[in-house]
Amino acid sequence: MDGIRIDGKGIAQSIKDEVRSQVIKLKEHDVHPCLATILVGDDVASTTYVRNKHKACVDVGIEAKIHKLLATTPQSELNKLINQLNLDNSIHGVLVQLPLPQHLSDFEAIMKISPNKDVDGLTPYNAGLLVMGMPDLVACTPLGVIEILQHYQIDMEGKNVVIINRSNLVGKPLYHLLLQHNATITTCHSKTQDMASMCKKADIIITAVGNRDRFVLTSDMVKEGAIVIDVAISRFEGKLVGDADYPNLIKKVSLITPVPGGVGPMTVAMLLKNTVRAASRGVLDE
Ligand code: GUN
Repeated sequence: MDGIRIDGKGIAQSIKDEVRSQVIKLKEHDVHPCLATILVGDDVASTTYVRNKHKACVDVGIEAKIHKLLATTPQSELNKLINQLNLDNSIHGVLVQLPLPQHLSDFEAIMKISPNKDVDGLTPYNAGLLVMGMPDLVACTPLGVIEILQHYQIDMEGKNVVIINRSNLVGKPLYHLLLQHNATITTCHSKTQDMASMCKKADIIITAVGNRDRFVLTSDMVKEGAIVIDVAISRFEGKLVGDADYPNLIKKVSLITPVPGGVGPMTVAMLLKNTVRAASRGVLDE
């Protein structure tokens, strides 16, 4: 029997419905949640991601302001804009779409974002809180992955989890979130030896490579009944695909996310949730 195809789109929709009602409550308190996004340059994928985030905000009643900067924008100008947004009380979330063009520093930009508006959870302050086991604003994709596992009532305690990614956006925050759920985690990356044997031992595999020429998670690499969460998205032979060989894996695993329609919509939903969290401070706090 085939495994279950995880409905990321459906779970994201119910989170959006929750967020929509929180936004209504905030507005009753005269707080109008607003997310400012900075897009530097005209990278096609980044432009699409920002447009999707904007549409999702509007859909739940969050105001979204997109600041489009030329690809040639100097760091000083980017930093200045971030400072302005930090100081603007009508803005609750500041998101710099990554990666930035090569001449700019992702790190320097992130360092400028006020931690209480850091809806991506990427500032050293918020990343540090997560490491210390006291998470506040946490990176959206890792949050979305945990939300999916919780939705399907997957007990993470003691499970062997393999994460194939070590980025600040995905692999590292995910490691710490899973640790909070008492999972036993192995982080794999481009220098890992014998990825197949690592994956074969895993109860849960979370993969985020995003390059089919370099890596494909095939059914011989997973154990029967494992759970596969595919975070990657890339274009391959004209189609949007993840890392997983989905048609063959679904015959062997217990649960698997599709691409598209799996983790992607969850990332956006968690961004909305984080924006409402940032806007709620001192208003809807329990
Ligand atoms: N680029 C790809 N994913 C993300 C994300 O979640 N946040 C930001 N800021 N940039 C990204």
